[in-house]
Amino acid sequence: MMERTGEPALDTPLMPLLRPGRGRWLHLPAHGGGPGLPAAMRRLLSGRPGVWDLPELPAIGGPLLENGAVAASQHAAAAAFGVDRCWYGVNGATGMLQAALLAMAKPGQALLMPRNSHRSLIQACALGGITPVLFDLPFIVDRGHVAAVDAVWLEGVLAVVEAEGHALSGAVLVQPTYNGYAVDPAPLIKRLHQQGLPVLVDEAHGSHFLPGVDPSLPASALRGGADLVVHSLHKSSTGLGQTAVLWHQGQRVDPDAVSRSLGWLQTTSPSALLLASCEASLADWTTRSGLCRLRRRLDQARALAEQLRDQELPLLETADPLRLIWHTAAAGISGLDADEWLMARGLVGELPEPGCLTFCLGMATRSGLRRTMVRHWSGLLQHLGQARPLPPFTPTPIPLLTSPAMDCGEAWRAPSREVTWADSVGGIAAQLVCPYPPGIPLLVPGERLDVSRVNWIEQQRRFWPDQISSRVRIVA
Ligand SMILES: Cc1ncc(COP(=O)(O)O)c(C=O)c1O
Repeated sequence: MMERTGEPALDTPLMPLLRPGRGRWLHLPAHGGGPGLPAAMRRLLSGRPGVWDLPELPAIGGPLLENGAVAASQHAAAAAFGVDRCWYGVNGATGMLQAALLAMAKPGQALLMPRNSHRSLIQACALGGITPVLFDLPFIVDRGHVAAVDAVWLEGVLAVVEAEGHALSGAVLVQPTYNGYAVDPAPLIKRLHQQGLPVLVDEAHGSHFLPGVDPSLPASALRGGADLVVHSLHKSSTGLGQTAVLWHQGQRVDPDAVSRSLGWLQTTSPSALLLASCEASLADWTTRSGLCRLRRRLDQARALAEQLRDQELPLLETADPLRLIWHTAAAGISGLDADEWLMARGLVGELPEPGCLTFCLGMATRSGLRRTMVRHWSGLLQHLGQARPLPPFTPTPIPLLTSPAMDCGEAWRAPSREVTWADSVGGIAAQLVCPYPPGIPLLVPGERLDVSRVNWIEQQRRFWPDQISSRVRIVA
């Protein structure tokens, strides 16, 4: 049509990028460009194109319908993993976390949440008129990472909750972190339950903890008794992009409230392909061959890390062997600069940060990776390496517990004006400030800006120059 009228044809710059590339895929989704997909999905995708693109036909149904294959599949998955219920999702962990949060609290109520909550949770607070009572986390200065919260840390947080008299309706934990820091979540969940709080765990990066194949991995929060747990199946299992699952157990959260909030957020046309991918990735971990493959991937990842350490690559240790972290700060290099340099040479990592670069080894076999990594590390050192490590990173200068000075959603929607950071002191933020990845807000709408916070954000701007603007919107 366009061509007949003499108009230029619509440009399609995306399409050429979706062809096999020559670079090394060490980013998410964890299926690593296809080889890590379950055999059933590979067969489906290599068949006639489009046959799988079906609507919610009666035989298929959907995540919120009582009848049909999707409902039967969800029942089977919940039973296989010993959980009361689950729902498959086609909008990532994002959609599942938002639905879960909205099921836990009503407008005007408050939830205890860690500072490293993904931005989707803050957005859900804004949608639902819920107050995030945010607790800070332990910080590791040589890399600029937050560590996992342990029982002692949580006790300190609960002491401040009590001293300040916060009335809470529930609590959220993030475990493991994007980089793979994690502890046994059971004591934390138990303690929060003792306080009368239902617990939602964002285990987006820890689906592979669920089958319990490897005793050195932390247990899944589902085994630790969490009421709601979200897995991002494309981040830490073998699902296609956007696949996720929300698990529910126990009596503390009403499953009808979960269904209702899923209905508020979910498309009325969920992709049958993505739902089948949810099913296949979970089914894979109920078979002997799928579990063997997972075990093998973990063993290979540990062996690779050991070989790289022998070659003096500065790798950080976390609870998840599938996250391989180059501690670039140890060689005076920013992880963002390292990422740019490596990407130009075909080695594509997942999470560049000021002090590190995290690669996701995922579920695909990685042959020849040791040699590639050693060669590129040595090239990187030659081109960007410094004699001294980067100076220690500074934690956010905030009290252990904070909540926004103004309702998060109201501040986001309020008339606002854009000012320089220096002029924002004393104002109330009307936007999120959030480098992506990792998607963890540095500033939440409704928070009041003081001098030390503004100075800290100016410092972060030097680390993330393309991601943090020189100006910020504050409530007018
Ligand atoms: C901790 C955490 N939770 C949730 C999400 C959202 O996951 P998804 O991309 O599946 O929506 C992310 C994404 O980076 C994340 O890091």
